[in-house]
Amino acid sequence: MSNEHDDYDYLFKIVLIGDSGVGKSNILSRFTRNEFSVESKSTIGVEFATRSIEIEKKVVKAQIWDTAGQERYRAITSAYYRGAVGALLVYDVTKKGTAITKEIKLISYSLETFADVEKWLAELRDHADSKIVIMLTGNKCDLQHLRSVTTQDAEIYAAKEDLLFLETSALNSVNIDAAFQKVLSVIH
Ligand code: GTP
Ligand code: MG
Repeated sequence: MSNEHDDYDYLFKIVLIGDSGVGKSNILSRFTRNEFSVESKSTIGVEFATRSIEIEKKVVKAQIWDTAGQERYRAITSAYYRGAVGALLVYDVTKKGTAITKEIKLISYSLETFADVEKWLAELRDHADSKIVIMLTGNKCDLQHLRSVTTQDAEIYAAKEDLLFLETSALNSVNIDAAFQKVLSVIH
């Protein structure tokens, strides 16, 4: 996880947010360690990892923070967002969320993780820097047969809210590097 040569030109903090189970921790482990876990446990508190990449001949070190989607396990909100210049706001393209949020919210199960993007966006806008670069990230795009959020619906939403947008698969390593690369290059 650590870099052999810890020389960098820029250090940028990026936060991962989104409902429990959308794949935030696996996006982090895929990007920083090229690892994926089929049976990963829900995150408790906050974790972070770093990876340096080159952008326009400069070494950009991304410090990526990951917390729990579940309210009761989350890090302190204001500290989590402090200093963040980028965010991946993750939903699950099959929308399958957790029992926890399903119980609390009386919205339909099938709409959950994408519908909750609005809630996460409101939190970002309350707590993060107004210039934070946000990538709406539709994860688990490998599960085509279970897909319930169309690419087009997400694109329309992203355009309306002025967000970057990509669909990813932490499982198959689709667009994981590209998502971070894009956010980092816009910041940089
Ligand atoms: P919390 O820590 O509870 O907020 O959840 P999380 O968003 O960190 O989700 P996590 O990374 O733990 O992944 C939840 C489940 O989804 C795990 O079983 C993963 O293996 C699975 N998963 C994550 N990414 C993908 C993906 O791209 N494709 C598929 N098919 N499964 C994935
Ligand atoms: Mg997690």
